[in-house]
Amino acid sequence: NGVITIDPGFKNTGSCESAITFLDGEKGILRYRGYPIEQLAEKADFLEVAYALIFGNLPTTEQLETFRSDIKKQSVVDDDIKKILDAFPKSAHPMGVLSSLTSALTAFNSSSVNVDSEEEMYRAITKIMGKFPVLVAWTMRKKQGLPLNYGSNSLGYVENIMKMMFEQPNETYEVNPVIKDALDKLLILHADHEQNCSTSTVRIAGSSHVGLFSSLSTGISALWGPLHGGANQAVLEMLEAIKADGGDTKKYMAKAKDKSDPFRLMGFGHRVYKNFDPRAKIIKKAADEVLNDLGVEDPILEIAKGLEQEALNDKYFVDRKLYPNVDFYSGIIYRAMGIPVDMFTVMFALGRLPGWIAQWREMRLKKEPIGRPRQIYIGENERDFVSIDKR
Ligand code: CMC
Repeated sequence: NGVITIDPGFKNTGSCESAITFLDGEKGILRYRGYPIEQLAEKADFLEVAYALIFGNLPTTEQLETFRSDIKKQSVVDDDIKKILDAFPKSAHPMGVLSSLTSALTAFNSSSVNVDSEEEMYRAITKIMGKFPVLVAWTMRKKQGLPLNYGSNSLGYVENIMKMMFEQPNETYEVNPVIKDALDKLLILHADHEQNCSTSTVRIAGSSHVGLFSSLSTGISALWGPLHGGANQAVLEMLEAIKADGGDTKKYMAKAKDKSDPFRLMGFGHRVYKNFDPRAKIIKKAADEVLNDLGVEDPILEIAKGLEQEALNDKYFVDRKLYPNVDFYSGIIYRAMGIPVDMFTVMFALGRLPGWIAQWREMRLKKEPIGRPRQIYIGENERDFVSIDKR
């Protein structure tokens, strides 16, 4: 009808119909393809969840085996990618590296650039599911000065990721079941979250019919920001700063409430959840279990719990319905696993991969039109050109 309404941040604007993830922010409910997140985190493994997100239902044994083996066949990365990785300075942030490498994959996999049929989609999906963990592991190992390795075809998807990331030279890597369970859980909890910033970015980039890998690299960049996936790194840095500052959580609570101070309590608040983030509940419990099982005593966990208690009883946070989100406790687990702080958001990307893929595939199969929001122009009216000597 020609009437344009403005909704900055799309707070009340739906961008699509989707059958992938159900989220009730008032009640704190999250379901993938109808399956409650609590059941998936407890009983499923990451690859099963990835399959369900992408294709609609939890797989049968046969479907899962075919998916697993199709992914494995695609898990080799062109050797020239190593040269690109080598060209990055050691100080490069892993998220910038990962987004560039994901984009660079298009140069070595030209058949994945124009993807239209379901068959081509499946090929691109298995390729990226196979190659992305290699890029993640290599990004971390390069920074740590470790040789770039491949996993083992006999291992499961998550075990293989662990081997690629953590195996030290001259050692036979043994998968620690406690870490494996925790990693599975974290990846599952991050796997999709409907139309968040990075997913909307993937959908809108993909709506121009650019290929899957390019769409994903835009999503990785969007995820990097501290208001989105980058919050997990920011949380740990904040907790460290509080510890270094004598552990005075009250001081930081006051800073977070002070409107003249840009500081925010990282890992708190959410656009959609106005009740506890169900993922945070599961992760908090997992953090306790993992630290106990590994015998790690991390004073940061106590600071985090103290901060949470204060916020839950503070009028400012209660009035604004600000609860801990998925990023509040995840970094504590990643750190206990031996993952460097600047890799935390990369781990989020690894988990979110199937969600981005599922949303991209849904958008293409539904033949959604190109994403192209409108605006209301508020600039100058028409005026005449003035030559440079008269300005
Ligand atoms: N600390 C202090 N105050 C906050 C915080 C916070 N973490 N989050 C929101 N507020 C206040 C905000 O100042 C505003 O107050 P007022 O009404 O007085 O102006 C009110 O709460 C509403 O906040 P908003 O910024 O309008 O809410 P939003 O929906 O636009 O932003 C958010 C959501 C997640 C970006 C925000 O809560 C935030 O910046 N949180 C910290 C960063 C973070 O943890 N991000 C991870 C989000 S979950 C995982 C993911 O998305 O990747």
